[in-house]
Amino acid sequence: GAPAQAAASGHQTVVVGHRGAPTHAPENTLASIDAASRLGDVWVENDVQRTKDGELVVLHDNSLARTTNVEQVFPDRKPWNVKDFTLNEIEKLDAGSWFSPDFEGERVPTLEDYMDEVEDNGQRLLLELKSPELYPGIELQTLRVLHRTGWLDRSHIRRRLVIQSFNADAIRTVHSLRPDIKTGFLGTPSVAQLPKYAAFCDEINPNYTTVTQGYVDAVHRLTGPHDRRMQVNAWTVDDDSKAIALDRMGVDGIISNKADEIRDALETG
Ligand code: G3P
Ligand code: CA
Repeated sequence: GAPAQAAASGHQTVVVGHRGAPTHAPENTLASIDAASRLGDVWVENDVQRTKDGELVVLHDNSLARTTNVEQVFPDRKPWNVKDFTLNEIEKLDAGSWFSPDFEGERVPTLEDYMDEVEDNGQRLLLELKSPELYPGIELQTLRVLHRTGWLDRSHIRRRLVIQSFNADAIRTVHSLRPDIKTGFLGTPSVAQLPKYAAFCDEINPNYTTVTQGYVDAVHRLTGPHDRRMQVNAWTVDDDSKAIALDRMGVDGIISNKADEIRDALETG
């Protein structure tokens, strides 16, 4: 099974809680990372966006509509984009009831509060800059929040933080601002293009449906900016047999909505 292989090859696939533990608590809330923590998720993933008044918050969609009660509270503000609301307005919203009445009153977290909670939980974070093209300067701003919350000290940078984005320019910017931070590109660049990414990315994080053995091997042949073999983290994998297949291809990480179940599946093989 997988543990024997892992022991033999030194390979250990990390399973990352996508938006926390989104089958147990509303995604991207503090309740979600707390639930993930209770389930044993050491690594969690989130999505960072910016309010009208320049505050960073954790939310997946560009719009508040799906995961809050914004349509009820501000009926005239369609399409309810995060960038058109102040933090004060967003703090009035319920980000839990859409998921279950048990989470009524849960808030959209600020990135600052979120980082403190990840810290308190002793977790590690794959932080996604979501739609950075909408938010000029969000890279530096994110680094400032990370600095304020103690996440840019040596041990956090080395072991507990990766910043990723679908937007290669944003990742290039993070890398040039703080070359010691590990970074990931979300997508599947062609094998020919990969060496270009190796200049500023430690990880290539593809949609799992695009991952083949040849692709994993091609990424692994490259050395990233921190003199380590580049890594592959596949998303979003909620099916045991698909996770096992990816594990056998040697991916370094699997991002899942059901991280605990997938971890069990990999252990029992
Ligand atoms: O972590 C990768 C994955 O989250 C990317 O897709 O849309 O869930 O942010 P999305
Ligand atoms: Ca994400």
